[in-house]
Amino acid sequence: MADDHFDASADTWDLEPGKAEESRRVADAIAARLALGGRERLLEYGAGTGLVSQGLLPHVAGVTLADSSEGMRRVARGKVAAGALPAGTRVWDLDLETAEAPGERFDLVVASLVLHHVHDVPRVLAGFHGLLDAGGHVAIADLDTEDGRFHAHLHDFDGHPGFDRARLARWLEEAGFEEVAVEDCTSIDKDGTDFPVFLATARRP
Ligand SMILES: C[S@@+](CC[C@H](N)C(=O)[O-])C[C@H]1O[C@@H](n2cnc3c(N)ncnc32)[C@H](O)[C@@H]1O
Repeated sequence: MADDHFDASADTWDLEPGKAEESRRVADAIAARLALGGRERLLEYGAGTGLVSQGLLPHVAGVTLADSSEGMRRVARGKVAAGALPAGTRVWDLDLETAEAPGERFDLVVASLVLHHVHDVPRVLAGFHGLLDAGGHVAIADLDTEDGRFHAHLHDFDGHPGFDRARLARWLEEAGFEEVAVEDCTSIDKDGTDFPVFLATARRP
């Protein structure tokens, strides 16, 4: 799917009903699952406006947001300027499907509701692995397999209709991760239908 949809949605993203609460629940689930010590360098991939990172601020030391949508990056930069995200928060233009992972290393890579928009998921997981220091964690929140209704309003959606948990776990192992765990995280209400969201976590050996 082109970035146009996210560029156009960026300014009103945080105002969408339920969006901030969903992101807060994802951040809380990550903080509850991983023993974060407050010194972690966080990279949020497909960060959008940075809502999940905002929820993780009490648990990490530094934040880098990465997204392929210029509109989302503009809103995220605005939050840094306004103080909603800490000074020093970096906003990167990064698409791991088409670019190599930068040389920098992090302790935590978070991807919330972005992987179902990615075509080559194993390639992006390999990118996450390369971005982590040994002992660092990846945390992926995404939709369980659904019947396509989640994106029915988008005529050009060409991503995944959610994920089979076992398949994603296998991809994580194949990317070199260990301690792979997948658990219930939250759910998203869309037009009266509840779509379950899982949290997958894993560690780079
Ligand atoms: C559904 S939004 C989720 C935003 C945020 N993570 C959240 O939970 O509110 C998906 C985000 O992933 C970004 N995205 C989609 N494909 C991407 C890719 N290949 N690389 C980087 N970002 C991507 C979009 O621009 C969008 O901001």
